[in-house]
Amino acid sequence: MIVLKTGRELKVMREACRISAAALKLAGSAVEPGVTTAELDKIAEKYILSQGAKPNFKNYNGYPATACISINNEVIHGIPSKKRVIQAGDIVSIDLGACFEGYHGDNAATFACGDISEEAKRLIDTTRESLYEGIAAAVSGGRLGDIGAAVQQYVESRGYSVVRQFVGHGIGTKLHEAPEVPNFGTQGRGIRLMPGMTLAIEPMINMGHYDVKVMPDGWTVLTKDGSLSAHFEHTIVITPDGPQIMTKP
Ligand code: MF3
Ligand code: CO
Repeated sequence: MIVLKTGRELKVMREACRISAAALKLAGSAVEPGVTTAELDKIAEKYILSQGAKPNFKNYNGYPATACISINNEVIHGIPSKKRVIQAGDIVSIDLGACFEGYHGDNAATFACGDISEEAKRLIDTTRESLYEGIAAAVSGGRLGDIGAAVQQYVESRGYSVVRQFVGHGIGTKLHEAPEVPNFGTQGRGIRLMPGMTLAIEPMINMGHYDVKVMPDGWTVLTKDGSLSAHFEHTIVITPDGPQIMTKP
């Protein structure tokens, strides 16, 4: 069942999203050579708690941290560790969210550590832009497939591939709600989009093939071919006047 949110609910959810976005921005600006992924996780966690919110990934299906931090060929769900030191040239995907007064926010972005290659820059730019293409397609009266089709078309036109095994999602009083929001698909297909729908759109884009595998830790998702991967995510709400990004700091 897809839950349409009322104005009162959206007001609370906007605060959860603001906190999520500010935490992501803080952690992202701390990315530099020598920092550990555990340190970035702590920065985000401290901020979220200071706002009277809770890190909503922590303990979700047993996940042990506030953020997922995934480097280079890691796609998503990298577990922060004191042993994982970020190096110049790495691309660092940070995914995190906050729950405030029962409502969830969720967002992600890929950050560059120091100087990165031109090809890595292009992958990051394409992934960010593909998210905005997907958001622009999330309009009342359209169809769910319009979102994935917009992301996929943009990404593939630039020579990259869209991860199939993980998708975006509805979000609200739960971190993951119906519907699933694939980053690939066919325009005009799927459920009708309506005002009050709150969605987390989150393209995961690989430089090579879209196939992924899970590491023995049971969480970290890697590209099967070892190619670089980037990830951007916003929580949005569909309004009568178009899509609105809720995860803005
Ligand atoms: N980052 C995922 C999402 O955006 C959720 C993380 S799963 C968790 O939907 F277990 F790590 F929390
Ligand atoms: Co999400």
